[in-house]
Amino acid sequence: MSGRFITFEGIDGAGKSTHIDALAERLRQRGAEVVCTREPGGTDLAEQLRELVLHRPMDALTEALLVFAARRDHVQRVIAPALARGATVVCDRFTDATFAYQGGGRGFDGSILAQLEQWVHGNLQPALTLWLDLPAEMAAQRRAQARAADRFESEDLAFFERVRAGYAARMAATPQRFARIDSSLDRATVSAQITAELERRGW
Ligand code: TYD
Repeated sequence: MSGRFITFEGIDGAGKSTHIDALAERLRQRGAEVVCTREPGGTDLAEQLRELVLHRPMDALTEALLVFAARRDHVQRVIAPALARGATVVCDRFTDATFAYQGGGRGFDGSILAQLEQWVHGNLQPALTLWLDLPAEMAAQRRAQARAADRFESEDLAFFERVRAGYAARMAATPQRFARIDSSLDRATVSAQITAELERRGW
């Protein structure tokens, strides 16, 4: 038995949290066991690593190693066991974020990230990745109304356009796994696009 692994991606300010909650609720109403989790994070160890990655200065390789270390713990303790018992796992970011932020944003070598991906979660990949996409400038305006910025959120527009290009490249590599959602639209329309993607898959 293997459950579905669904991930949400997008630049900071894309509005993932709202839509993750809504999707989890919808799936629960249909009787699924849903495990909602996030990266970096999802276990005690990984949440501690998250604190370091978001707030301590470090170079791009250190950043990549820490997010993959967090991911290893998360996959082993939470994601793989949940999928094995047939639960649906909805995860706020996964390895596409590493390719987008450390690869695209920081310009770190994608072939090294691909090796780390292979070591850390071999052939475990999301069944569906909902990429909430919008221009960096619009995301920055949305973030300005939210909370204090962490190390990533305080990057400039050019950084976030590179992250966005990183997501586009990941989607081009495995298009069948991805759904690009136009997140520049209002909340209800974004939600309808997400529902349509699930329905298209008969979920
Ligand atoms: P985010 O998921 O946006 O959480 P919140 O909604 O609480 O702000 O924040 C996590 C940050 O970590 C985000 O800026 C992207 C970054 N990140 C990476 O750089 N690499 C990764 O592999 C992951 C999973 C996240």
